[in-house]
Amino acid sequence: MRYGHFDDERREYVITRPDTPLPWINYLGSEDYIALLSNTAGGYSFFRDARLRRLIRYRYNNAPLDVGGRFLYVRDDDTGDYWNPGWQPMQRELDAYTCRHGLGYTVIAGSRGGIRAETTYLVPPGQTLEVWRTRVTNDRLTAARVSLFGAVEFCLWDAQDDATNFQRNLSTGEVLVEDGVVYHLTEYRERRDHFAWFACSAPVAGLDTSREAFLGAYRGWDRPLAVERGTLGGSVAHGWQPVGALQVTLALEPGESREVTFTLGYTENPAGHKFDPPGSGRPDTTRARAVIDRYRRAGQVDDDVEELRAAWEERLATLQVASGNPHVDRMVNTWNPYQCMVTFNLSRSASMFESGIGRGMGFRDSNQDLLGFVHMVPERARERILDTAATQLPDGGAYHQYQPLTKRGNDAVGSGFNDDPAWLVVAIAAYLKETGDLSILDEPVQWDNAEGSETPLHDHLRRCISFTLDRLGPHGLPLIGRADWNDCLNLNVFSEHPGDSFQTAPNRPGGVAESVFIAGLFVLAAREAEAVARMRGDEIEATRCRDAAASMTTAIEAHGWDGAWYRRAYDHVGQPVGSAENDEGQIFIEPQGLMAMAGVGLEDGRTRTAIASVRERLATPHGIVVQQPAYATYHLELGEISSYPPGYKENAGVFCHTNPWLMIGEAITGNAEGALDYYLRINPSAREAISDVHRCEPYVYAQMIAGRDAPTHGEAKNSWLTGTAAWNMVAISQWILGIRPEHDGLRVEPVVPASWTGFRATRQFRGTTYDIGVVRASRGDPLTAGSVEVVVDGRPIEGTLIPLPVPGTPRVRIEVVLG
Ligand code: BGC
Ligand code: NOJ
Repeated sequence: MRYGHFDDERREYVITRPDTPLPWINYLGSEDYIALLSNTAGGYSFFRDARLRRLIRYRYNNAPLDVGGRFLYVRDDDTGDYWNPGWQPMQRELDAYTCRHGLGYTVIAGSRGGIRAETTYLVPPGQTLEVWRTRVTNDRLTAARVSLFGAVEFCLWDAQDDATNFQRNLSTGEVLVEDGVVYHLTEYRERRDHFAWFACSAPVAGLDTSREAFLGAYRGWDRPLAVERGTLGGSVAHGWQPVGALQVTLALEPGESREVTFTLGYTENPAGHKFDPPGSGRPDTTRARAVIDRYRRAGQVDDDVEELRAAWEERLATLQVASGNPHVDRMVNTWNPYQCMVTFNLSRSASMFESGIGRGMGFRDSNQDLLGFVHMVPERARERILDTAATQLPDGGAYHQYQPLTKRGNDAVGSGFNDDPAWLVVAIAAYLKETGDLSILDEPVQWDNAEGSETPLHDHLRRCISFTLDRLGPHGLPLIGRADWNDCLNLNVFSEHPGDSFQTAPNRPGGVAESVFIAGLFVLAAREAEAVARMRGDEIEATRCRDAAASMTTAIEAHGWDGAWYRRAYDHVGQPVGSAENDEGQIFIEPQGLMAMAGVGLEDGRTRTAIASVRERLATPHGIVVQQPAYATYHLELGEISSYPPGYKENAGVFCHTNPWLMIGEAITGNAEGALDYYLRINPSAREAISDVHRCEPYVYAQMIAGRDAPTHGEAKNSWLTGTAAWNMVAISQWILGIRPEHDGLRVEPVVPASWTGFRATRQFRGTTYDIGVVRASRGDPLTAGSVEVVVDGRPIEGTLIPLPVPGTPRVRIEVVLG
């Protein structure tokens, strides 16, 4: 069952009924001001940090779902009927409803009783406000008198404090009302130099700033007294819950439309400009007013929409494909890169599943997210690498998280997730392959953000490699620490008390648990580091990395192989995890695909066997589960993984992040059918038709789909902020379509099913546009099966790596013939 459809032409997903199984959201804004916006206009907004600078309230975990957001009420002033064009919070039946989620904007339209309201929501590029531009149309044959009410409930900035510290915060709320604008001033009197405001382009007929006055005692947003009455009372909030509620009255002739723009903004005043006049308690509103005035002018919003569209077209032009498979095309061309940008901007901080309070920027997460967007915004990738590396600890280890506002490591979580540093190597390698910008390696970068501690980035790379080598366990495999990629495999922690962190509770002394996964990842990283050292002419480092990769490979061969797949780990007492010797958790997905990526086990055929074992034991129609059999009970010696009911999350859920590793593994071992098959199993568009089962948005990946042990098998959770986005982008674009940046040029080596007659693609790479045409020649001819011939500007080349053209070459034409 579907709740809408893709409009590929406009790069929009069109939702045609408001009661989607879960809020289906979009993100507005990409730098400072970010808004989460659901298909019923729910959600919240913040300036840079979802916890510390939250502008409006949102109530997670509520009934009904999706409480809090951008409240718009249309009131027929002749009959008193009132309703929300986005359906929520009143849920009054609408005669028509659509929500178009586009790239950085959303348009929600609803109509009832012959009045239509269509609102475009967006965050103008480079600005710190959100705009709701509403067009109200009278579709009746008679004149109509209509009131439009816009309202927000302010969050008192720190979302955690706002939801907990009532003894204080019920007394701190303050507003200023001036010229029809509501300024939200809580804590501005003391240390804050920022405030929020809510304004409107039309003269306001009335306003309220006290929630109780607007809603009425014991009433909710679903039946605000002031809207019911049709007039706002001009309340001024002192403490309690400050809101901004504005009323505009419109007299509409038959067929007439009027536009009203509401703006919710954030303004920071520079030092010396806090109060006007200086020393008074009155905030200086000059800067805010300039923005408010700009959005009181008609036309500004259309210009912004155009600018957004143009920016996205330019960004997306880096890779476009026409394969004929709609699920491939729309994900590769639009939605997957879009999701990659959102995960890049937000890491794992704010979504319908991440409250914006708990998690900073993950070290491993940020490095992997980079793989999905480096081709679109290389300069921001560069900055991200330098920021992330500056949080690195002098021993090469990493804080597991860092804070987005300060960009400093998070002491509360600390370090000891021993896979973290290796991901920095992978990210740097990806950046270099995309851009060829070796200068980044010489950038001075701090250690643990300490002034004066700078050494060149290549030294950070070196210490990433040393970090693992300095921490080898009894089998010569890397020590796992608190956890590796699988945050829930806590083999040294032995967490016994409810509420204790599974990861950061004190580790049992002598933590010798080892990770076969990190071993594979290390080989991958060491190979990348070797290539980088070689390009820098550092033969000593190149040799060290080569030897380290070789000896780690030997350790994997000796202790990582279980007979038909790679083991996952060795626990605290040296027992294997992910082995046929275990009763549960016999085979894990993570190492199987990763070994192929690292080039381990390709020659002796083990990787092929491992990949076949995955298909036999872990693959379900809804994707590949993490492990089997699921853990039925809690295992102290394993940790959080066994805390989840079977089939969820790391305990045998389909953890979508890992599935692309198998797609890549299948592609590397030449199984084109297998690779695409896995790709389509978790592809959100391919799952659109089962939206009632999948339940999350059909246009973005979810972190998890419930596995076969769960009664809800096939149900997705944790959509949007997941490494799944980046890795699927890598799998489909680089390994299946086979368009892969390398240090010495672009490789084009598609591994697509025999049923594909070909595809076309354009890829911008280091300043040149590659027009790529792939055709299948002699289908089924055993003599040429599997061969790939590449012709560059009419000349056949040896192999599949296209040498870099003369700098400045605008276009290169590539023809690829698949046997
Ligand atoms: C989740 C993991 C996540 C971790 C972060 C766990 O509860 O299952 O997916 O990585 O929390 O700390
Ligand atoms: C989500 C976390 O953000 C990521 O870092 C981790 O690798 C996966 N969960 C698996 O545990």
